[in-house]
This record gives sequence, structure tokens and C-alpha cells, in this order.
Amino acid sequence: MPVTRLRLPGPPTDGLGVFDALRERRSVRSFKEKGIPLKNLSALLWAGQGVVGVVRGIMRRTTPSAGATYPLFLYAVVGESGVEGLEAGVYEYVPEEHEVVLIREGDVRRGLYKAALSQGWVRDAPLSIIIAADFNRTTSVYGARGIRYVYMEAGHSSQNIYLAAASLGLGTVAVAAFYDDEVKRVLGIRHDPLYIMPVGWPRKRM
Ligand SMILES: Cc1cc2nc3c(=O)[nH]c(=O)nc-3n(C[C@H](O)[C@H](O)[C@H](O)COP(=O)(O)O)c2cc1C
Repeated sequence: MPVTRLRLPGPPTDGLGVFDALRERRSVRSFKEKGIPLKNLSALLWAGQGVVGVVRGIMRRTTPSAGATYPLFLYAVVGESGVEGLEAGVYEYVPEEHEVVLIREGDVRRGLYKAALSQGWVRDAPLSIIIAADFNRTTSVYGARGIRYVYMEAGHSSQNIYLAAASLGLGTVAVAAFYDDEVKRVLGIRHDPLYIMPVGWPRKRM
């Protein structure tokens, strides 16, 4: 039986500092066939949407959020041997518990690759992090203007993941060209996908 719910190791305390990570950040589309340690998946998810503390009763995260409505949801697509200690599958990140929950078993990378206009890095990366949104969380407070706020927040999350990857010597690329409904179907999610971020060890040093 695969693990269905897993508490992740704590957020990292090592790696490159923020200015060096900014200098190192590049879009990487070619990855080694080598799995990623669980602690690195933990670091990337935490950077993208982790909890940093509680202010006035609301858990605050690594990204700013309009009115602290937090519309973003992160999913991890783990390939065969993609992340040490995790079976291939689709996992939802639960920021409040810093854990992942298995929502679909098996390696779905080929389906995700086809949904992403056959961009090879989506098929080949050992791991992809998907940033998705529940727009209603923000539009119910801000009306139509909330739509732009959600897109802005996806940018914050994506950049955090880029910088965390650079800090750990990993590579990623923000992929936005895909068929939304296909991605939802392949992952089995109801939230709207905004970015696919394939992650792996860069084949060439940038
Ligand atoms: C909104 C947005 C959409 C993007 N979509 C894709 C994509 O579908 N596929 C891809 O390979 N790269 C995509 N990229 C990555 C850009 O191609 C990349 O950031 C750009 O070439 C600059 O290179 P750099 O990130 O290494 O600085 C996207 C970037 C952004 C900001």
C-alpha cells in the first residue's frame, strides 16, 4: 500500500542565500535521471505556499495574499523513483500540516506532458509542482478584481519555487502553455491550474 498521507521534514536552514539564488535562477528544461530527496520536495512546497506563522488568528504563508484569502493550492506530480520515499502519484500539499496527501496513484507524467503541448521537460522531470487556484476564495471578497490578484499570487509562488530550487542546486521552469481541462483531468483536481513547474537536477550547469 502506498503512503497516503506523509508529514514532510521541516523547512530547510541551509542552501544559497537569497541574493545568490537570484543570480543563479534560470529556467531549466533538461534534467538528470536522478530522484529528489524528500527534504528538497519539502523545501520547494514550503517555499511555494508554506506557513510561516500566525497573525491575528490567520496562518500566514511564504507568499503575500490579497486580504489573506490564500486561493492557491500546490500539487506534486511524482514520477517513478522521482522523490525518495514517495511512490509515483499525485499529491496535494496541505500547508497547515506541512504534509502531502496522495490523491491519485501512479505515474501521470505522460498524460501531463500531452496536456502541456508535448513539452518534453514535463515528461522527463522526476517531479512537477502544479500551482492551482480556487478563484472564488478571492473573487468572493474582491469581485472581478480578485481574478488579477490570484494571477499575481501565482507569480509570487512560482518565483519562490524558482529561488528555492536555485538555492538547492535544482532547476525548474514555469510552464503556462497547457490545456486547463486536460491538466485537471490528468491530476484529478477541481482547482484551476495556473503553472506546471517541472523540477530536477540540471543536466548542464547554467
Ligand atoms: C507567464 C510565463 C509563461 C511561461 N510558459 C512557459 C512554457 O509554457 N514553457 C516553457 O518552457 N517556458 C515557459 N516560461 C519560461 C520562459 O520561457 C523563461 O522564463 C524565459 O525564456 C526567460 O528565461 P529565464 O527564466 O531563464 O530567465 C514561461 C514564463 C512565464 C513568466
